[in-house]
Amino acid sequence: MKIGIIVYSNTGNTLSVAEKLKKNLVKKGNIVNIEKINIDGNKKITNNPDISKYTYIIFASFVEAFHLNPIMNKYLKQLDEIENKKVSAFITQGFSKSWLGGNKAIKQIKKICNNKNFIFDKSGIINWGSKNREKQIEQLIIDFSRT
Ligand SMILES: Cc1cc2nc3c(=O)[nH]c(=O)nc-3n(C[C@H](O)[C@H](O)[C@H](O)COP(=O)(O)O)c2cc1C
Repeated sequence: MKIGIIVYSNTGNTLSVAEKLKKNLVKKGNIVNIEKINIDGNKKITNNPDISKYTYIIFASFVEAFHLNPIMNKYLKQLDEIENKKVSAFITQGFSKSWLGGNKAIKQIKKICNNKNFIFDKSGIINWGSKNREKQIEQLIIDFSRT
C-alpha cells in the first residue's frame, strides 16, 4: 500500500513518532512517505502536501491551547474532497491527560475529514508528559500498522 504520513511538528515529538511508524509500515511491505507541512516566518503554509497519490493517509500533529494546532487545522480545511479516501490521525500533546486537548484535536480532525467524505479509520493520542509515553508509542505503532 502507498501510505502518506502528513506531519506538522514544531519541536519534533510528533515527527519522531511518525518516523518510528514509518519504519514499521515499511517493514510490513508498504511504501511510505513522510511529508512535512512547512510554514514561513509569518506562520503561512508554504506547501500543501498532495494526498491524492496515496491509498492511505495518516495525519499527525500536536495540541496547541487545548485544540488542534491552527496550522494542521488550516491544512486539513483546504484539502479537496475525495470520496472514500481512507485516513487516520494521531496527535501528541504535552499533558498526560487526553482531555487537556488531545480528545478535542481528534474530534476536530474527524469532523473535517467527514466533511471531505474521507473514511476515518484510526485515531491515537500520545501524552508526552505521561510516564507511559513509550508504551503509548509502542501501542500506537502496533495499532496503526494494521492497515
Ligand atoms: C503554544 C503551545 C501550546 C500548547 N498547548 C498544549 C495544550 O493545550 N495541551 C497539551 O497537552 N499540550 C500543549 N502543548 C504541548 C505540545 O502539544 C507538545 O509538546 C507536543 O508534543 C509538541 O509536538 P511537536 O514536538 O511535534 O511540535 C502546547 C505547546 C505549545 C508550543
